[in-house]
Amino acid sequence: MADLDGVKESKNFYTDIPQKTEGFFLKGSNSLDWGMKNRLARIFNPDSGHTVMLAIDHGYFQGPTTGLERIDVNILPLVPYADTLMLTRGILRSIVPPSVTKPIVLRVSGGSSILKELSNEEIAVDIEDSLRLNVCAMAVQVFIGGEYEKQSIMNMTRLIDMGIRYGIPTLAVTAVGKDMARDARYFRLATRLCAELGAQYIKSYYIEEGFETITSCCPVPIVIAGGKKIPELDALTMAYNAIQQGAGGVDMGRNIFQAESPAAMIQAVRTVVHENEKPDKAFDLYNTLKNQ
Ligand code: 5RP
Repeated sequence: MADLDGVKESKNFYTDIPQKTEGFFLKGSNSLDWGMKNRLARIFNPDSGHTVMLAIDHGYFQGPTTGLERIDVNILPLVPYADTLMLTRGILRSIVPPSVTKPIVLRVSGGSSILKELSNEEIAVDIEDSLRLNVCAMAVQVFIGGEYEKQSIMNMTRLIDMGIRYGIPTLAVTAVGKDMARDARYFRLATRLCAELGAQYIKSYYIEEGFETITSCCPVPIVIAGGKKIPELDALTMAYNAIQQGAGGVDMGRNIFQAESPAAMIQAVRTVVHENEKPDKAFDLYNTLKNQ
C-alpha cells in the first residue's frame, strides 16, 4: 500500500513558466494528429527538416532490379546510413530483421508489371498489415495523365482516409508515363493535385527548369526520386539543387544501390541533404570513402 505518512507536500507548479506550444517543423503538417506527426518526425530529421529515404521497392513491378538481386547482401549494410527504408512487405518480412528500428515506408500499391500497363494498380496491402508492420508511412503510385489516372487517384484517396484513421501518413508517388513531358507544368499539376486530395507528402522528380515553382506551390513536403543511374557527381548535384530549391529530401534508389560504392554514395548524399554540403565536396567524400 502507498505510504500515507511523510508524503512530501511542497509542489512546484512553475506558475511563472508558460507551457510551450510548439509548432511542427514540417511544411504544411501542423494540423495533423500526434501519431501522424510523430511518424513524420521519424522520417524527416527534425534538426535538418530533411530525409534520405533509401528506395528499394522496384521489384514490386520489375522483379530483381540490378543492385537489388540480393537485398540481404547488398542493401542491409546500407541501412545504418538511411533515414528511412522504402520497400515492399515481402522484402521487409523475408529479409529485413525486425531489430532494424529505421522507419519503414511501405509500398502498398501494386497489381501491374513491366509487361503490361503500369498505371493499372490497386491498393495491394490491408491497412491492418501496415499497422502490424509498424510502418511510418504508406506509399501509393499516382498516374496523373495515365490510362488509369482516376483509379490511381482513388487508390490514393482511399489510402489517405485509412491512414488518417490510424495516424499513418500517405506518400503519393507521382509516376510519369514514358510519353509524357517531364516539365514544371506537369509536376506542379501532379504534386499539387496529390496534396489537395490529402497526401501528407509527395514524391516527384527533379527537373532543371522551374523545380522551385513545384516545391513552392505544393503545400506539403516533396521528396525527389533519383531516377535512372547517372554519374555520381551528377546525382549529388541533382540532390543538392533539389534541396536548395525547396525539396524535403530524397527518396533515392538506383543512384545509390547501383553506384560503384553504394555505402560511400549514401553517405555523400546525406551530407548534401542534411548539411547543405556542396556537390564537389560531397563527391570528394564519396571518393575518399570508396577508396577506403
Ligand atoms: C518505384 C519507385 C522508386 O522507389 C522510386 O522511383 C525511387 O527510386 P529511383 O531513385 O531508383 O528512381 O517508386 O516505382
